[in-house]
Parts: sequence; C-alpha cells; structure tokens
Amino acid sequence: MAPNGASELAQELPDARGAQADRKGVLAQSCARAGENEVRKLGARLADTVRMERPAALYVHIPFCASRCHYCDFTTYVAPDDAVEAYVAALVREWELVADQAARPLQTVFFGGGTPSLLDARRWQRLLAALHRWFELAPDAEVTVEANPGTVDAEKFAVWRSAGVNRLSFGAQTFNDRLLAAIGRSHDARAVCTSVERAVRAGFTRINLDLMFGLPGQTLADVEMAVQTAVDLGVEHVSAYWLKVEPGTPFHEWHQQGRLQLPGEDLEADMYELVRERLQANGYVHYEVSNFARPGGESRHNLVYWRNEPYLGTGVGAHGYAYGVRYENVRSLAAYGRRLAEGVRPVASFQPVTPAESAENTMMLGLRLREGVSVAAFERRHGVPADRLFGEELAHLQRLGLVERCQGRVRLTERAWPVANAVFEAFVGVLTVH
Ligand SMILES: C[S@@+](CC[C@H](N)C(=O)[O-])C[C@H]1O[C@@H](n2cnc3c(N)ncnc32)[C@H](O)[C@@H]1O
Ligand code: SF4
Repeated sequence: MAPNGASELAQELPDARGAQADRKGVLAQSCARAGENEVRKLGARLADTVRMERPAALYVHIPFCASRCHYCDFTTYVAPDDAVEAYVAALVREWELVADQAARPLQTVFFGGGTPSLLDARRWQRLLAALHRWFELAPDAEVTVEANPGTVDAEKFAVWRSAGVNRLSFGAQTFNDRLLAAIGRSHDARAVCTSVERAVRAGFTRINLDLMFGLPGQTLADVEMAVQTAVDLGVEHVSAYWLKVEPGTPFHEWHQQGRLQLPGEDLEADMYELVRERLQANGYVHYEVSNFARPGGESRHNLVYWRNEPYLGTGVGAHGYAYGVRYENVRSLAAYGRRLAEGVRPVASFQPVTPAESAENTMMLGLRLREGVSVAAFERRHGVPADRLFGEELAHLQRLGLVERCQGRVRLTERAWPVANAVFEAFVGVLTVH
C-alpha cells in the first residue's frame, strides 16, 4: 500500500544524504565556487528576526508515571507521594524565576509528561493558581494537559476547566488489549473510551488521542481498528507515532537480543499509509508528519516548535528555546529540587543558536508541516533566500520527487511522507558544518 515502496525510496535517499555529507556545507562549498568574500557576505547577511522574540509558549514537564511503558525513554519516574509534593513546590519556584522572560500574555501552555493527570485535584489547583499568579494568559490561550486513560475523574476535570485548561491529550496507543499489555500499558482499551467519553461530558471539545504503529505483533487490522475507534470517539486531533526503539528501554534490550518481533519496514510504512488514508477520508487534515486534525483543531503549542519559534521549558529535564539559546534542565529530581531551593534556575546545559543553525532548523522543522516553508517568509526572517542556502539540496530532493514548490512554498510531496525523516537529514549541517 505504500505507493512507491518505502524501503526502495529510502534507498534513493542516502544519495541525498551522502551528497550532503561529502560537502562541507553551502557556505564552505560556495567558498570554492565564489571565493571567500562571497561566503563572508552570505554569512554576514544571515539573521533571525524571530529567535529574540519573547516566548509566548510555555512547556511544563510533569515527570511521574504509575509504571514505565516498555518503549518509553521520556524523563519520568515512578515516585512516592512526598517526591510529587516536593516537585510541585519546586516547579512553582522555577516559574517565579522565569516568569519575567515570558511574553505577556502567553498564547499556549502544555503540561506534558510523564503523566500529568496523575497529580490529584488538590495539587492541580495549587499548580494552576500559581500558573495564573506568575504568568498572564491570553483569553483564548490554548492550555493542554496530557492524560493517561484511567487517571481522570470529575474532580480533576472541574479543576482544569475552571482554571482555563481547554485541551486534553490521551495516550491510547492501540485498542487491542493484548498489545496494550505487551507494550507495558497500565490500562485497557475500554479505559481509553471511558476517559474520552467522560472528558466530553465534562465539556472538553478539544481532545487528542496518541496512537502508535509498528508495535511488535501489531497487524494492519489492529491499526485500522485503532484509527476507526478514534474517529468514532469524535476526537478533533490524532497523533500517530511510528515506534522508535529507544536506547535504554526494555524494547531496546529485547531488540538487541532478537526477542522483539517488529512488523518490518514495509508493513510499518503500509500502516502509516493506512492511518493517513483513513484519517483524511474522515475529514482530518494531515498537517504534520505524525499529526492529524479537524480543520482548526491543530495543536497551536506544537506549531510553535515546528515553526521554529521560541518557547520556555520548565520542569525536570525540560528543553527550552528562548532569546537565541537552547537549554535543557537537569534530569535528576533531587538536583532539580536542590537548585530551586537555592533560588537558582535548574539549567544543566545551554547552547547559543546561531542564525545559520536557526536557518537550518526553520527549513527542517517547517518541512514537517503540510504547509511547508514560505520562501518569502524565510527570506524576511533570515535575510537570505532559501535557494541561496539550500538550492542544491532542494533541487536534488525535487529531482527525487520528494519536495515540490507550490504557491511560493517549498513542501514535501505525498510520496515523501513515509521517508520524511531521511528527507530532513539532507539539511543537517549544510550551513553549520565547516
Ligand atoms: C510523552 S508521552 C506522554 C503521554 C502519556 N503519558 C501516555 O503515555 O498516555 C507522549 C506520547 O509519545 C508516544 N511515544 C512515547 N515513546 C515513544 C516511542 N519510543 N516511539 C514512538 N512513540 C512514542 C506515545 O504515543 C505517547 O502517548
Ligand atoms: S508512554 Fe506515557 S505512561 Fe508510558 S512511561 Fe512514557 S510517559 Fe509514562
């Protein structure tokens, strides 16, 4: 069902990547072509008018789970109650330290995990009161909470609604109970349906379901059933993730030992194609590699990432991108609490992002979106036409039929979606490796 054979297509791509890897980057290459002066001129003209804007998006990491799923490498802990209590207090202290960096008002807030819905209603009340104390939220701000099926109740719904939470994201993964158990989920399919139905009854209209495909033992029929169930539940948004076997997870260990029976690249590509086909047939727009929404139901918060706009990240292990700097918070709960008790921001590392790096990111992240990258907006933001920087990569990808130009935008073609990650790699290091 993958129209061009995903594995065949992927085989064509190493050319694109190889060609890129052989080069020392457009700036360096044009050095040979046009001489040092031209390179310097191009480099000096590179800018970024967006990266210094005040971040209007806030990510908040809640790093607790009832148990660990076998595939997951997110920063999350199965922790006792007193650790959760201490964490909520530390998080509020971090907000106090970063609040003056945020745009007033914020446009989006995203509580991600871990399992944010594991916090009880009382802690949510404290947390949301502090959110409104330290930050100003736009009247129509999008405020999302990630929730695990089976961890929501009427009291939490009421607290969330009254404090402006207007979007919920449930991790369903699959609706096959045997598979759910095999991947280490702590709920069954029925719990997903019940949780979504209760959320709808509590007044939530903006609901996302996470699905996964490429799971061990998963069949096309399983994927078809999952997509149909999501459609029947009437959710406005579906994220469908292709399983990635992450180092440090039980899946990785089993994979190394030859004990993880994955469906295989071609069947997995067929699964992706099936997800795309069914969701689009039911009125969902495939607006990003892994994301589908009814028109107007796109995740505004995640669009900030894909449009390479700044955001604040708070909480243990959280990443942020603000004032031209990418940073990552400490991953240890103890270190996070300790730093904040001392009144110090818990940043573990930070890296200034140059205009060249940012230009690469604008192209790579923007191509994740169906809308692609506007050539005019790129030049306004970065001061140099995209074709001067990436002309060769774009032309090569166009020859392979993976990228097209349409109404002043560069975007992926339909056949490129299953190999999208390999396409993005063509841009890595083009401007930044010398
Ligand atoms: C940060 S998790 C939090 C969601 C929530 N805790 C839950 O599991 O219901 C967000 C989503 O990432 C996806 N995910 C996590 N690990 C993954 C992996 N290794 N490969 C693909 N998707 C993954 C899952 O669909 C999950 O629901
Ligand atoms: S997938 Fe969700 S519930 Fe499972 S370990 Fe990761 S964050 Fe926790």
